[in-house]
Amino acid sequence: MSLERRNIAKMQGYTPGEQPEARSTIKLNTNENPYPPSPNVAAALAALDIATLRRYPPPMANGFREAAAALHGVSAANIIPTNGGDELLRLAITTFADNGDCIAVTKPSYSLYPTLADVQQCRLEEILLNDDWSMPGDFLQKALAAQAKMIILVNPHAPSGNLLSIEYLAALARAFPGLLLIDEAYVNFVAPELEHDAVPLIHEFDNVLLLRTLSKGYSLAGLRFGYGIAAESVISPMLYKTRDSYNTDLIAQQLATAAIKDTDYARENWARVREQRQWLQQALAALGLPSAPSQSNFLLTTIPDATGAQSLYQTLKSRHILVRYFNQDRLRNRLRITIGSPAENQALIKALQEIL
Ligand SMILES: Cc1ncc(COP(=O)(O)O)c(C=O)c1O
Repeated sequence: MSLERRNIAKMQGYTPGEQPEARSTIKLNTNENPYPPSPNVAAALAALDIATLRRYPPPMANGFREAAAALHGVSAANIIPTNGGDELLRLAITTFADNGDCIAVTKPSYSLYPTLADVQQCRLEEILLNDDWSMPGDFLQKALAAQAKMIILVNPHAPSGNLLSIEYLAALARAFPGLLLIDEAYVNFVAPELEHDAVPLIHEFDNVLLLRTLSKGYSLAGLRFGYGIAAESVISPMLYKTRDSYNTDLIAQQLATAAIKDTDYARENWARVREQRQWLQQALAALGLPSAPSQSNFLLTTIPDATGAQSLYQTLKSRHILVRYFNQDRLRNRLRITIGSPAENQALIKALQEIL
């Protein structure tokens, strides 16, 4: 006899990208940063006094909140630290969407959203993107018609890398009566000349919640640290009511704080990733493999039918190069390729030249 709730028994869990043991694998499948974390993080770890682990950590991670507030020019009351960006998604859904409520997302999108909606027994309205991955003109109408309580948009979009403008997001926030969660997991890789900054939206709109993570931009996927930025009225219920009592641990708080205090170091890596993004996109295109324009640290690359995306994924895997294949509508003829280090990207191109 199953003891699970009925909806849990029926649902599929989230399938994470493969995490191979072998360090020699060229890992371009889960959008990790190819560069190491800041030396400040290493110094903070070396300076950690093990005796401090005897006690509980600061419950609200106020040291990190102050540092993040200074970085974004907001108040600490606008920040909630979480155990990875994923925890913020779960917190937001359990705080702002009731069982039976509708959550509107784009299709395709980050595959954890449907899983979290299932856990909370929410309805999911998946709204198809245009062929060029832009938003359909009737996105808002469809979300309203489905009586969505919440919209979750990933921007830059995953898995395409398409960027929605601040003007578009502001118009959506103005017209939508529910919570607009903008998942900015990859926002650090947006070209600085675009001057893309969604943070001011939180002062104008009390229904906008931004998700940030240290996993990608700060090379700390293994640490599990993310945070939300929003009006105090959005942050407070999560911070004081729905959050686990000590949702981020002491080591993570200290290392995450060290990382975001060294944005100069992180920015250099973002620039390197952008440079390599351009190089890789051109090198792939020269092999007849075009990619959607990307403002993220990955490319969504179209694979000709004669080669087959799934088969190419397998062949690359047999050569110890991992990329991401999604067996889903619109994605079956594509591979999502994380921007690696120059050596990794060159190895990928060399392998593709041999295979193709
Ligand atoms: C779109 C998107 N949002 C959020 C996350 C959450 O990242 P993390 O939980 O590592 O902070 C990811 C991670 O892959 C992602 O791709």
